[in-house]
Amino acid sequence: MSEQRRKILVTSALPYANGSIHLGHLVEYIQTDIWARFQKLRGHECYYVCADDAHGTPIMLRARAEGIEPEELIARVWKEHTEDFAGFHIGFDNYHSTHSPENRACANLIYERNRDAGHIVRKTIKQAYDPEAGMFLPDRFIKGECPRCGAEDQYGDSCESCGATYAPTDLKNPRSAVSGATPVERESEHIFFRLADFEQVLKDWHRAGHVQPEVANKLDEWFEAGLADWDISRDAPYFGFEIPDAPGKYFYVWLDAPIGYMASFRNLCDEQGIDFDSFWQPGSDTELYHFIGKDIIYFHALFWPALLHGAGFRMPSAVWAHGFLTVDGAKMSKSRGTFIKARTYLEHLNPEYLRYYFAAKLSSRVDDLDLNLEDFAQRVNSDLVGKVVNIASRCAGFIHKRFEGRLAARCGEPALYDEFVAAGDAIAEHFEQREYGRAVREIMALADRANQYIDGHKPWVIAKEAGREQELQEICSSGINLFRVLVGYLKPILPRLAEQAEAFLRIEPMQWNSQAEPLTDHVIEKFKPLMTRVEKDRIDAMIEASKEDLQAEAEVTAQPAADSPLAKEPIAETIPFDDFAKVDLRIARIVRAEPVEGADKLLRLSLDLGGETRNVFAGIKSAYRPENLEGRLTVMVANLAPRKMRFGVSEGMVLAAGPGGKALYLLSPDDGAQPGTRVT
Ligand code: MSP
Ligand code: ZN
Repeated sequence: MSEQRRKILVTSALPYANGSIHLGHLVEYIQTDIWARFQKLRGHECYYVCADDAHGTPIMLRARAEGIEPEELIARVWKEHTEDFAGFHIGFDNYHSTHSPENRACANLIYERNRDAGHIVRKTIKQAYDPEAGMFLPDRFIKGECPRCGAEDQYGDSCESCGATYAPTDLKNPRSAVSGATPVERESEHIFFRLADFEQVLKDWHRAGHVQPEVANKLDEWFEAGLADWDISRDAPYFGFEIPDAPGKYFYVWLDAPIGYMASFRNLCDEQGIDFDSFWQPGSDTELYHFIGKDIIYFHALFWPALLHGAGFRMPSAVWAHGFLTVDGAKMSKSRGTFIKARTYLEHLNPEYLRYYFAAKLSSRVDDLDLNLEDFAQRVNSDLVGKVVNIASRCAGFIHKRFEGRLAARCGEPALYDEFVAAGDAIAEHFEQREYGRAVREIMALADRANQYIDGHKPWVIAKEAGREQELQEICSSGINLFRVLVGYLKPILPRLAEQAEAFLRIEPMQWNSQAEPLTDHVIEKFKPLMTRVEKDRIDAMIEASKEDLQAEAEVTAQPAADSPLAKEPIAETIPFDDFAKVDLRIARIVRAEPVEGADKLLRLSLDLGGETRNVFAGIKSAYRPENLEGRLTVMVANLAPRKMRFGVSEGMVLAAGPGGKALYLLSPDDGAQPGTRVT
């Protein structure tokens, strides 16, 4: 390789620390991970960093609703996120948090340098204030009736029913989603970043090709609309960093979030002795790339480069936006079970199936990407299992049985091998350009060629003919070597499969260019299937489990939640007594409680109703140890229609209160109540 060793820093957007990683997120982390792995395989010095985005109002309120400190919440979520990412083989060099000393230091520095250069101003603004909760309300935390269509319970920024967008002050009958109180207007001094100071710098930067063409068009629209001052402060109470020269004011989460890229890298540099400055000083020959989703372009293509420039740091080499994930042609949906969490996927399917499928569909453009579940199964089965792995399985048996696992001293058809090696440059260029779909197509065309080669030479026929031993060994050795080149090309996408193949071939970890010569006169391991087919029933089970996630979870969403439970869940509409009388509530004794295999949140309860036993699945596992429940009395809905779940039929429901997770309280009558008696 004549190319010199590049120094590259790559990032993915920082996921919020109040929700689980889902397949939509994974489009981005898989896309970035493939690119970073590719650069490393090419021999470049490449670092891939990320972090949890831990600040902001939703995180503060969610922690409150769970009755814990925000620090405890973000520590728990950090652990979950890192486990999910590891499950998908996302190979971060560092995964940090924006709630870190490094980030506070970087945020203060960037703020102070911009302030000293005159890019910061203070202005007093009016904002909605919740007098009961004692806090200013972000738009999303004000609810009311849509000013256009009158739909109830709409957020302060847009109507989900008619699509109108408006200011929270336009809502009819507005109320705080935190406390239920009617918001009032209140003045407060805020701190602003003067984005317009950077108009020319940003225009030049965009024109120099640091963003995709589609994004450049969007930016032109924004420039035309004018660059407004950006409000970078929030009043207490807020979970974030207090602004150094403004006590009681905090950096808005979106100010310190991108700075989290820098902070995560700083943390890595301190640990490994990497030269931090060489990656951030202007005019440096290092490269800096941000992979993001299309919804956060404004922050990354305007605010972030401007903040960097204003603070005397380099601007990104590029910001690359991708589109959104749909499943079976529609937005991910909790009720259809297509809102699939990373963890739920991992409980059912091999992560490399998804890595491959996303790679096959990804390009350098901002287009949305559809996970069509049927196509997913078909494609993985036919490409990976049917084509790639099949090459090895067709040849390895003969090598093992007839030649004691030894590859021939020369391969059959060396020209074909050379062709495979020569195709590497074009494939590399596709990876470099983020045209993974094209790379995959070329690799699969080669896989077809390899299979045709084997079909044409029919080793299974030759194996039966006397005196053709050497020919047999050469053909099969050639097949194994072609397989090796293909796996080398797929390695950025399928790191685990590559690792297994390396063990099978008894070779050192492959680099991009280490397959130039075939393996000859070399002993390999016995072949074990490297990948099994995607089974449709596993996909169905994953969809079912995703529906249950929703059902069993009673999840506290990122939405308002607060000290008053009534605020969080306002009392429902009144109903006639007759409706109430339809619900048959009974005293029940829990005779057995046990975990359900494959379900994180469920317990299987056997309930004694005074002669009759019911089997009920209850989403209370995170709050109770099964052994502590046995013998206890509770209240159940006895006439609920039985519900078929993945684990069996649930014949009723027990009653519990609370936001979910550990904060869940099973109702229990006083001692002495008789199982089976009606609760009225
Ligand atoms: N915390 C901010 C990012 C701060 S970066 C300095 C955020 N977090 S997020 O959790 O909502 O999203 C993280 C990334 O995942 C974003 O780039 C977002 O675009 C991407 N995706 C989230 N849902 C997605 C899909 N359904 N499909 C594809 N990407 C999606 O935004
Ligand atoms: Zn409306």
